[in-house]
Amino acid sequence: MQKPCPRSRPDRTSREIRLLAVVGMFAVVLAGCSGSVDPAESTQPQLGFTGLDAASDVPDPPDLDAGRIATGEVLYRQYCASCHKADLSGDTNWMSRTDDGTYPPPPQDATGHTWHHADQVLVEIIRDGIPNVLSGMPTFQGTLTDEEILSILEFFKSEWGEDERAFQWQITWKASR
Ligand code: HEC
Repeated sequence: MQKPCPRSRPDRTSREIRLLAVVGMFAVVLAGCSGSVDPAESTQPQLGFTGLDAASDVPDPPDLDAGRIATGEVLYRQYCASCHKADLSGDTNWMSRTDDGTYPPPPQDATGHTWHHADQVLVEIIRDGIPNVLSGMPTFQGTLTDEEILSILEFFKSEWGEDERAFQWQITWKASR
């Protein structure tokens, strides 16, 4: 059974800091990347992948495993789709806080935010919930194994574009060094 996320957090400050950190990170990434999209011309802050480090020693993303994608899709439909939607599109108002102070479920496809996080972070979020934040995201500790969570992530990856996949692979690879 899903456990509710602990309601330990009094306000949204740390989420706001988190979001600012992400925006700031992309600003740095964009600024540090010569020849990439000028942030002033970009209407999409999520173009963080323009900061892909072409000269780095990061290997190409490994091929996705069809068996794990299929397993992940079944688990997604069972445990996640009720909130994040069958087509992964999440809630249309996912960026706006609701009356109870939580945010609606975000998309899991390329229009969302999940691909901004490394696998290691995503496994923790899905297994343990979002720390210190009043959140509607349940925890799956004791319900899903890490391997099952990784299968769900494999399914998400199969739905992202090449750029999101490459960006998320790069941060995952770097986080494992
Ligand atoms: C009861 C509804 C609900 C269910 C079921 C649910 N989620 Fe969530 N999820 C949310 C909400 C709400 C958020 C946004 C939390 C926040 O920002 O405070 C969220 C956030 C997330 C995030 C963070 C995204 C980001 O960009 O930071 C991930 C990843 C995620 N969910 C994956 C899953 C997976 C995988 C499952 C199934 C195993 C699942 N969720 C099941 C409601 C749900």
